[in-house]
Amino acid sequence: MGYIGSHTAVLLANSGHRVHIYDNLCNSNVGTLERIQKISSQKIGFTEGDIRDTEKLTNALRDEKIEAVIHLAGLKAVGESSQKPIEYYANNVQGSISLIQAMQAAGINTLVFSSSATVYGDPVYLPYDEDHPTKPTNPYGRNKLQVEEILRDLSVSDKAWKIACLRYFNPVGAHESGLIGEDPNGIPNNLMPVIGQVVNGKLLSLSIFGDDYDTPDGTGKRDYIHVMDLAEGHLAALSWLGSNPGCHTFNLGSGDSISVLDLLHHFEQASGQKIPYQVVGRRPGDLPEYYAKADKAEKVLGWKTQKKLSDICNSSWLWIKNSRQN
Ligand code: UD1
Repeated sequence: MGYIGSHTAVLLANSGHRVHIYDNLCNSNVGTLERIQKISSQKIGFTEGDIRDTEKLTNALRDEKIEAVIHLAGLKAVGESSQKPIEYYANNVQGSISLIQAMQAAGINTLVFSSSATVYGDPVYLPYDEDHPTKPTNPYGRNKLQVEEILRDLSVSDKAWKIACLRYFNPVGAHESGLIGEDPNGIPNNLMPVIGQVVNGKLLSLSIFGDDYDTPDGTGKRDYIHVMDLAEGHLAALSWLGSNPGCHTFNLGSGDSISVLDLLHHFEQASGQKIPYQVVGRRPGDLPEYYAKADKAEKVLGWKTQKKLSDICNSSWLWIKNSRQN
């Protein structure tokens, strides 16, 4: 029950779905389950287990009479994936194969896979649409693309499979209750958790990675998507898959790109706090800008983002304030 999974679980439960979480807690803790439970209208089940434990996973799927799986059990730190590639391939690729085998054993063939815009690599054109060439530049991105390819091969070999690969842009924000949000273990890498640590006094200031990009204010631009909009995207994909076999790919993004300074200023407005920052050198591997063409998800799934940047910043601020007490 990591960041995206916990928000998706709450939305599913509150939309009338029976939810069971399977997690090895390598990047989350069981306290999250209690908080998920508080904001869910139904009891949420939980099995602690590793995705590579095919037998345990098969038993959980059978025992809980699961009908569809949302697969978010991936390691996700880009830098770490270059330092520990085998750990990443083992968990992310081998783990996905184990999940597919468990689903086959349990007779389940509906799967939503958490992919990433990272699969596109350096933009040939922007916005990225789903047909943009895929050339990821790090092991994490290659893991995501390989799993997508495995899923496509699977759906060709067995026409009963119903699979959606959701390519997320930059998930940010938190549940409106402020009870769940992004809570990375160790030192965060992504922008919003770093801002959170600055506000909470764990870091002295935000280092902005470059202000000499070819963008209006010189800082990097990204397509930030509210995590509850993202959760809605999973729900939309799940219900659409019901009558649409095959393996389908969708961008989940807002279609807008926002600079680091824009996000920072919106966050300052939401929190009423000044965020100290300094501009440092570019981070290796960072792109100046990328954002989604999100038309396919809107046309096919009837989904598009609803939340504004102010919703993102207000909910993040509430979560950051609450997590200060922990
Ligand atoms: C990163 C991953 C991407 C992953 C995504 C998940 C890399 C290279 N890419 O994307 O694969 O899918 O997270 O959300 O890590 N920034 C700062 N200072 C910071 C942190 C970030 O200036 O301390 C800037 C970055 O340069 C970038 C923007 O903020 O312009 C967003 O960065 P981040 O949140 O790390 O996301 P991405 O790099 O876009």
